[in-house]
Amino acid sequence: MAAGDSFYIATPIFYVNDVPHIGHAYTEVAADVLARWHRQGGDDTWLLTGTDEHGQKILRTAVANDTTPKAWADKLVADAWLPLLKTINIANDDFIRTTDARHESAVTIFLQKLYDDGFIYSGEYEGYYCVGCEEYKQIDDLMELPSGDYAGKLLCKIHSIPVEVLKEKNYFFRMSDFEQKLLDLYESQPDFIQPESVRNEIIQFVKSGLDDLSISRSSFDWGIKIPWDHSHVLYVWFDALLNYITAIGYGTDEQNFDRRWPAVQLVGKDIARFHAVIWPAMLMAAGLPTPKRVFGHGWLLVGGEKMSKSKLTGIAPSQITDTFGVDAFRYYFMRAISFGQDGSFSWEDLSARYQAELANGFGNLSSRVIAMLTRYRAGEIPSDVTLSEADEAIFAASTRVTAEADAAIERLAIHEALAAIWTLVDDLNGYITIQEPWALAKDPANADRLDAVLFTALRGLGTLAVLLSPFVPDAAEKLWSAIGGVGAVQRQDVRAAFDWAGGPMVTPLESSLFPRIESPEPAPAS
Ligand code: MSP
Repeated sequence: MAAGDSFYIATPIFYVNDVPHIGHAYTEVAADVLARWHRQGGDDTWLLTGTDEHGQKILRTAVANDTTPKAWADKLVADAWLPLLKTINIANDDFIRTTDARHESAVTIFLQKLYDDGFIYSGEYEGYYCVGCEEYKQIDDLMELPSGDYAGKLLCKIHSIPVEVLKEKNYFFRMSDFEQKLLDLYESQPDFIQPESVRNEIIQFVKSGLDDLSISRSSFDWGIKIPWDHSHVLYVWFDALLNYITAIGYGTDEQNFDRRWPAVQLVGKDIARFHAVIWPAMLMAAGLPTPKRVFGHGWLLVGGEKMSKSKLTGIAPSQITDTFGVDAFRYYFMRAISFGQDGSFSWEDLSARYQAELANGFGNLSSRVIAMLTRYRAGEIPSDVTLSEADEAIFAASTRVTAEADAAIERLAIHEALAAIWTLVDDLNGYITIQEPWALAKDPANADRLDAVLFTALRGLGTLAVLLSPFVPDAAEKLWSAIGGVGAVQRQDVRAAFDWAGGPMVTPLESSLFPRIESPEPAPAS
């Protein structure tokens, strides 16, 4: 991308039936890292996240808790979902709730347009519905268990709960009209759906034929009213998907809408179909551009299964951040899991990577270099140095790594960006071991050489602080200010990270960037 381009990225909006777990936090961190990277590269960046508050699932949760759905949603947003963003240091530009007036009014405009243009008709729906998924189900999506409480019942394969049989007069969206247009989109824009495994699955699904989609319900009223028939509310997914455009001014602020849209959309692979089939069909019907990309990331697995609160395997993000800190949380999930694949979470792996990569690798490197500059040069950063081949090699590595990391981010290969940056951490550690600045310091005759080594190491740290700021914003800022960086690190151009020339002075770090954790016991499950 060229600096200044528009980069709009959105996470799915989260159901407020329950509190967040680390699977939700994972999507948020990935989107935030990408947004911070682009912001630091000077792109016109916008990160949107929010909550999905209508539908039967929320209504039933509220009723079960003796309250109204709006009061329930207000409570969960205030007590759980907004605090999550703080817990994991998300720098979102907006937070949309589907109960916001701005959303509801723009959804009404969208619906009326589709109705006026003949894309919606009235019909009869008869079939299965899973409230857990908030999705109409085909028989292939269901299973039966031979024994247990649900023996003999048809269950949703995802939630293992009985599906409901619906027979209702509904409004339908003419989704089948878009079958060929969607296939053409996937063909002409091969990176529209990523990764390849999700793309193939979606193409197969669409090729097997699309039905029209039931988009209204009349048996409950927790939702946005269908503008021409107030006895129906809008199907929760049709409502929720529209958040990506209502939040940026669809129907009310065309200028802002044109500035931001289309978006890059990160979603878990379980909801890729909604985003890569229904959503682009809706946009095509309204004559709007389809998203730039829909990236279906993998699942965090616990005990080999998708982690979920309903299966009691949910881990609260604060269980990790309380012990390891926010930066380590962000680093770990972006580094340990190939973005796009499933990944198993384990406390052992988290702890091992923390010690090896953050405490001993990056943290120790930073402390050593700053301590040597303080000890040998009273904090003054050398200038006018004569660089050797080994020093130039570090600069060449910084230049290469900056470009590699940027290219990886462009491909949404977040883990590859971190792996590339870590080669510079390793190169710098190796360089210091070989150059032995502590030995050079013993003889004043080596003063020039010591200057060059300290300058080179510090310049490398400057590059690391800038490149790592999107991933570990707090540690990067601490490092940046300790090494005399001018301004905030999150304002430094990430695509020119290699080019840091040094400030006047270093100041000692008040504490290690990643202190050793002696016995990293996980907090008890909540
Ligand atoms: N409300 C819908 C999305 C509507 S978007 C228009 C929804 N909400 S959700 O709260 O159930 O899930 C939100 C996101 O969290 C999804 O992308 C889902 O894939 C992700 N995850 C939920 N559990 C997860 C894991 N165990 N691992 C990784 N991501 C997970 O779906």
